[in-house]
Amino acid sequence: MGNLLILNGSPRAPRSNSRRYAQIFSSCYGENTEYFDISKRNHPELCAKLAGTSHVLFVFPLYADGLPVTLLNFLKSLEAAPPQNKPAVSVLINCGFLEPQQNEMAVEMMRLFCRQNHYPFGSVLKIGSGEAILDSPFRFLAVRKIRRFADSIAKGSYGTFQTTMPLPKGLFVKAAASYWINYGKKFGVTKEAMQTMQIEP
Ligand SMILES: Cc1cc2nc3c(=O)[nH]c(=O)nc-3n(C[C@H](O)[C@H](O)[C@H](O)COP(=O)(O)O)c2cc1C
Repeated sequence: MGNLLILNGSPRAPRSNSRRYAQIFSSCYGENTEYFDISKRNHPELCAKLAGTSHVLFVFPLYADGLPVTLLNFLKSLEAAPPQNKPAVSVLINCGFLEPQQNEMAVEMMRLFCRQNHYPFGSVLKIGSGEAILDSPFRFLAVRKIRRFADSIAKGSYGTFQTTMPLPKGLFVKAAASYWINYGKKFGVTKEAMQTMQIEP
């Protein structure tokens, strides 16, 4: 098991689901992990860290069927200041929708980055219902898959894994709608207001 760097590409990294997934990953992988949130200001520090690691795990959410800008901007910095020895890259992505396949386009974007910049590609874990699963009775499914994903990286026998809440789509949509409507109420935001493009008060 080599040293492994975990980089969180969520725009809300300190309070993110990605952070929770990264914590579970670390406890499954063992001692040799180092974790950082990607921020606007720490690109040079993280690029330097990458130079001294054998494996990097990017943990991030799906944003508009693609990569969040926090991660995109970091990849641009990395392209401009690449490490001499390229670590292998693995990806743990979570999305709000039920289907883990929603994440596939973003995974392809990461593969393309790795191919074009000569990083060996490692394992992938795609999580659907990523906003909900950890606080549901199905948490164990996510933990189990993260363990398998971590094992595959530790052993160098890379693979692609996925998990989600085993619910019918209709039920998931109803539960998600009532969750967000109640969440909005707490902040005085109505369902109608949430359906507009006006995201800031
Ligand atoms: C601006 C924005 C765009 C999003 N786009 C998608 C999307 O295209 N598909 C999807 O399934 N979830 C989408 N989501 C939901 C997030 O992927 C989901 O809430 C995830 O759990 C956030 O992870 P994080 O807490 O690590 O940032 C979006 C969320 C935001 C805020």
